[in-house]
Amino acid sequence: MKPLIAANWKMNPSSRKEAREIFEGIKKGVKNAKAVVVVCPPSVYLSELKGLALGAQNIYFEEKGAFTGEISAAMLKDLNIEYIITGHSERRKYFNETDELVNKKIKKALQAGLKVIFCIGETAVEKDAEKKYEVLERQLKEGLKGVTRDDSKNISVAYEPVWAIGTGNNCSVEETMSSVLYIRKMLVEMYNREIAEKIRILYGGSVKSDNSGGYIKKAGANGLLVGGASLNPEEFAKIVKSAE
Ligand code: PGA
Repeated sequence: MKPLIAANWKMNPSSRKEAREIFEGIKKGVKNAKAVVVVCPPSVYLSELKGLALGAQNIYFEEKGAFTGEISAAMLKDLNIEYIITGHSERRKYFNETDELVNKKIKKALQAGLKVIFCIGETAVEKDAEKKYEVLERQLKEGLKGVTRDDSKNISVAYEPVWAIGTGNNCSVEETMSSVLYIRKMLVEMYNREIAEKIRILYGGSVKSDNSGGYIKKAGANGLLVGGASLNPEEFAKIVKSAE
C-alpha cells in the first residue's frame, strides 16, 4: 500500500496568490513522488488549485437547502474533490463536533463518493488519565457506526494525539506504534482482518521532515497528516520523500 501524505492547511494562507504559490511549490517538489499526495486547502481555494489530489477540510451532512454557511458533499464532488477530513480535534474543540456529527459527515461523504480522512486522538488530560485506548475505541466505533465493509475501503484513519498538534511535541515512534496497532486491532474486530489491513492508518501531530520517516518506517503508519509544515513546500516535499 502506497503511503498517503495529506497536507492540512487549516485556515491558511490569507490570499489566493499565496495559496497558488504554495500549491505550485508543492507540485514541483512532489513531482516524482511514489506516495499519494493530497492537499487540503480552505474550501475557497479548491477550485483554483489543479494538478494534485485535493481534499476539503469539512462538509455538512445534509444534501442541500437552508444551512447558511455550509458546503455539501455533492458540491465538492462536482469540483472533482477526492477527499475530506473529518473528526479533526480543532473542529471537535472549537465547533463542538461530536462523534455523532462526525459519523453523519462520514456517511454522507462516502455516499457521495468522497474518500475520508477520519481523525481520532486523545487529549493531554485523557492521556494523563490513561484513557487513550478508551477514547480511540469510542471515537472509532461511533465515527464508523453503520459504515459498511464495502465503504470502509474509502476511509483512512488519522491518529492525531491532540497534545501533539501544533505544539512541536510530536508523538514518539513507540507510542505511535502502539496506537496504530490498537487501531488496527479495533478495525479487525469491527470489520475483519482482510479489510482492516486495507485501511490506511496515518499519523498526525507536529510532523516535520526530521521526524516523519520514523512513523512510516518504524511505527507502521501508512501515511501522515501534516499541518504547519505543509505550508512550506520544500519542507513538505522532504516529508513526502522521507515516507517512501
Ligand atoms: P500540525 O497539525 O502538523 O501543525 O501539528 C496536524 C493536524 O492538525 O492535522
